[in-house]
Amino acid sequence: FNVPVAKNEPVKSYAPGSPEREELLAVYNEMYNQEPIHVPMYIGGEEISTDNKKKLSPPHEHAKVLGHASIGDASHVEMAIDAAMKAREAWANLPWEERAAIFLKAADLLAGPFRAKMNAATMLAQSKNVFQTEIDAVCELVDFFRFNVQYMTQIYREQPESLPGTWNRLEYRPLEGFVFAITPFNFTSIAANLSAAPAMMGNVVVWKPAESQIYSAKVIMDIFKAAGLPDGVINMVTTRGSVAGEVVFNHRDFGGLHFTGSTSVFQSLWKTIGSNVHKYRSYPRIVGETGGKDFVVAHKSSNAKEVATALSRGAFEFQGQKCSAASRAYIPNNIWGDVKEYLLADLKSFKMGAPSDTSNFINAVIDEKAFDSISSYIDYVKDQPDAEIIAGGNYDKSKGYFIEPTVILTSNPKFRTMCEEIFGPVLTIYVYEADQFEETLRLVDGTSDYALTGAIFSNDRYATNLAVKLLENSAGNFYINDKPTGAVVGQQPFGGARGSGTNDKAGASLNLLRWVSARTIKETF
Ligand code: SER
Repeated sequence: FNVPVAKNEPVKSYAPGSPEREELLAVYNEMYNQEPIHVPMYIGGEEISTDNKKKLSPPHEHAKVLGHASIGDASHVEMAIDAAMKAREAWANLPWEERAAIFLKAADLLAGPFRAKMNAATMLAQSKNVFQTEIDAVCELVDFFRFNVQYMTQIYREQPESLPGTWNRLEYRPLEGFVFAITPFNFTSIAANLSAAPAMMGNVVVWKPAESQIYSAKVIMDIFKAAGLPDGVINMVTTRGSVAGEVVFNHRDFGGLHFTGSTSVFQSLWKTIGSNVHKYRSYPRIVGETGGKDFVVAHKSSNAKEVATALSRGAFEFQGQKCSAASRAYIPNNIWGDVKEYLLADLKSFKMGAPSDTSNFINAVIDEKAFDSISSYIDYVKDQPDAEIIAGGNYDKSKGYFIEPTVILTSNPKFRTMCEEIFGPVLTIYVYEADQFEETLRLVDGTSDYALTGAIFSNDRYATNLAVKLLENSAGNFYINDKPTGAVVGQQPFGGARGSGTNDKAGASLNLLRWVSARTIKETF
C-alpha cells in the first residue's frame, strides 16, 4: 500500500526569540486572560451541557478559573454508547484509506495550526512546561497518528497463503461492540491515542478523560472535528468513573477497554468485567498500562555525570508524574560521591513555578489529592531511622500544588519509597557495595511488583549483559546508558508487564491488533 512514510515530528526548541516561542506565549496569555470557557461533553457530534459543573483551574494557580466542564450522569454514558453504536456500521465499512486520511489530517493540523493551542492548553491544564508539552501533546501525538497509520497498513497487508484453486483472505474487522477509553492526565498524547488507535482500526469509542485533563481534552476533540472525524466515532463523556463503569460494563455491546491509570483501578475494572463476562456479545479486549516503580542501576564502570543527569531528568521532568519516571536508584559506592555532587548541583539549578515562565523546570503537581499523597510520603520519611532526605523535602499548596524535587537516601533497599509508586517528584537512592552488582540486580528484580521501565548504566559489556539477562522481566522498556523516560513512537514501542500492564505496546502494531476481530475467508474456485 502506498501511504506517506511516517517520520518523527521534529521537536521545536522554543529558544528565546524563536517564532514558535512568541506564538506559544501569545496563545498561552490569550487563553489565560480570556473569559472562563465552558467544556461540554461531545456525544454523537452534539455538544451536551449539564447543570453539574466542575471548575477547571491550573494546578500552579488553583484560585484561577479557566472554565467549567459539564459533568454527566449515567444517562449521558448511555447516550454516548447509543451514538457510538449508531455510527459504527458506516465507520466500520469506510475503506481504511478514508479513516487513515482523517488521522493524517489530524496530525498535520496538530503539527501546524493547533500546535500552540495544544501546548498552551496542556501547560495550563496539567502544569507541564513547554519543553515537556512539545514532546508529549504535539510530537508524540503527531507520531502516534502517523506511525499508527503505517502500522495499520502493515496489518492489513498481512495475508495467509493460498493453495492453487483457492483464495484465502484475512479480513481485519473492528470489534463488534464499542471501545471504552479511560485516559490519564499526565500525557495528552496518551489520552488522545487511547481513543484514536481503536478508532483508526474501525472501532467506535466512548472516551472518559481524567477530570484534570478536560481542558486540553477539548482541544483534542476540536482537532478530531477539524480533521473530519464523523459524528459518533469518538464520544467524550465526563462522568465520574464509577458512574460510567456501571453503564459500560453492564452493556451487551461492550467490546474492549483501553486504559491508562492506576494498577488498583485496572484490577478492579478487570474483576467487574470478569464477573459480567456472560453479558457481553464477545469476550472484551482488555488493554491497560498501569504505572511503574522504575529503576536506574549504575555499575561501578559507569560515568557518574551521565548517571546523575539520568536521575535528575528521569526522576523530575514533569514533576515525576510519568509512569516511566525513575523513582528508585541503585548506585555503587565507588561513584556515589560524584553522582551525589552532580545530582544536587542539577537540582539546585532547577527553578520551580508556573510554566508561563519557561525557565521553570519544575511546575506544580496535578491536584490537591496528588499533592497530599506525595507530601505524606515525604513526611513519612522524616521520621524513619533508615532514610534521610538529602535534597528538597519542602512543599506548599497555598497558591499552587508545588513540591520540591526530593531525594531520599536509604540504607534499606526494601524501604517503603523504594517499593511503592509515588507518582511525584520523589527519588529514592540506595548505595550498594560496588562488588555486589549481581546481588543488586536480583534485588532490583525482586523489589517491586511493577515492570515498566528501567535503565542500566555501565561501560563494562559483561556487566551490561548480566543486567540485560537478570532484569529481562523487570521492565518492558529497558534502557542501556540512558534515562528510563521519553520513549519515542516508532523507535521504542512503550509498555510493561507484571503490575504495569498488559504490555500491548503503545505506538506499535501490537496495540492496533488488539482492536480487530479478524475473519478468515476461504474461497474455492
Ligand atoms: N511514553 C512515556 C515515556 O516514555 C511514558 O508514558 O516517558
